Amino acid sequence: MKHLRSIAEMGTGAVTRILDLTDHMVEVNLRPNPKVPALRGRTVCNLFFEDSTRTRLSFETAAKRLSADVMTFTAGSSSVNKGESLRDTIETVAAMGVDAFVIRHQSSGVPWQVARWTTASIINGGDGWHAHPTQALLDAYTVRTALGRTGGLDGLRVAIVGDIRHSRVARSNIEVFTALGADVILVAPTTLLPPTPLAPSTHDLDSIIGDVDVLYLLRLQTERIKDAVVPSIREYSTRFALTPARAKRLGEHVLVMHPGPMNRGVEIMVDPAEIPGAMITKQVANGVAVRMAVLFDLLSATDRSTGLEVSA
Ligand code: NCD
Repeated sequence: MKHLRSIAEMGTGAVTRILDLTDHMVEVNLRPNPKVPALRGRTVCNLFFEDSTRTRLSFETAAKRLSADVMTFTAGSSSVNKGESLRDTIETVAAMGVDAFVIRHQSSGVPWQVARWTTASIINGGDGWHAHPTQALLDAYTVRTALGRTGGLDGLRVAIVGDIRHSRVARSNIEVFTALGADVILVAPTTLLPPTPLAPSTHDLDSIIGDVDVLYLLRLQTERIKDAVVPSIREYSTRFALTPARAKRLGEHVLVMHPGPMNRGVEIMVDPAEIPGAMITKQVANGVAVRMAVLFDLLSATDRSTGLEVSA
């Protein structure tokens, strides 16, 4: 694989390969010295044109654990503020010698555009409303390991709740869970569903909450919402938040997930620490291992020794 830009582009075979490789990266992360020389001499550049905490730090950590060199660029403090174009920015950084760009950008499709301007691998760290494939991979990995499965997720019932319409996480997660054989149901008001149906949907969280294996909560993407899509936050929470009453109805086996950042009091009105199946911290931890697997898969395919087998 040269690039990682969407789950659809990867296909199920590559998804499974990355999830299997992640098991090895989790093992590396458990070592007293969680660092291997696998990508020594490679350079990874994080280019973030949109805000990020988890994704940026997670890629940075992942690259360092594999001994790659890391450059991090945040648009707010760069020459983008002086009017430099995206293309000039990419070509400038690429000229310094970069093997992979991790890109987050507010416009959908940027990872495909950028791939025309550089020979480096492109990893999509979130493009507009469109896709966030490494989030989907880490979520699929989290579910797979929590359930002790090694293959697909056949028959698993996954509910994705909230602002599906503006969410790249929802789009990529629908693709990954469906590819692995799970049944996805979307729970949202009509105003927060995409105009083209991506999966079966309902407006009634209470009607399905007793019947799911995974409850995946999303933030209202207020930065992308221009119109009044919900009457009020309070009304939205009454209908779509994980409230204490709804948490009581969840079976002990139900995994509760959120990509972060969480808006407490909006989509989640209970302390996740009190929910037995809460996976939110686990998702973040697994994010590092999944991104190590992605970087390794994209960048180790040369005749240079990978060194993965060498215990640090
Ligand atoms: C998400 C994103 O940026 O798409 N965050 C993340 O990467 N964990 C979700 C969000 O911003 O709500």
